[in-house]
Amino acid sequence: MSKLIYVLNGPNLNLLGKRQPEIYGHETLADVQKRMEEKGDALGLEIAFFQSNHEGELVDIIHQAREQAAGIVINPAAYSHTSVAILDALNTFEGPVVEVHISNIHKREAFRHHSYVSSRAEGVIAGLGTLGYVLALDYFAQ
Ligand code: DQA
Repeated sequence: MSKLIYVLNGPNLNLLGKRQPEIYGHETLADVQKRMEEKGDALGLEIAFFQSNHEGELVDIIHQAREQAAGIVINPAAYSHTSVAILDALNTFEGPVVEVHISNIHKREAFRHHSYVSSRAEGVIAGLGTLGYVLALDYFAQ
């Protein structure tokens, strides 16, 4: 049976492609989902893809991942910089976690330099655009 990987996207990422394309690019979140599903097929990974603008809903999805997922890829978006609740939820998950940011948060405003989630993540990919999501799957395939 193929490993199930949960891919979680935080607030405003539903507007990917329309939102500040000079920072986040022109690809939509549906494009990213398609690329991940294709890459997942090639690597023998099953992808469950989510987006929510609500912190508590992301916590609920992480709890669901506890029962079902072998790993989590998460772009917590703005909640990276604010959410102890998402960090605590990820700490209840036993498998590996990869944090992805489309932009290089370290090149941007100081308030984006710290992510609560990074202290839990096995690895962090930032600044490689949406390729970061796809690269995270290589890690799980290994
Ligand atoms: C982001 C970076 C965050 O600082 C920002 O709030 C986002 C997207 C990224 O993917 O580059 O919404 O996580």
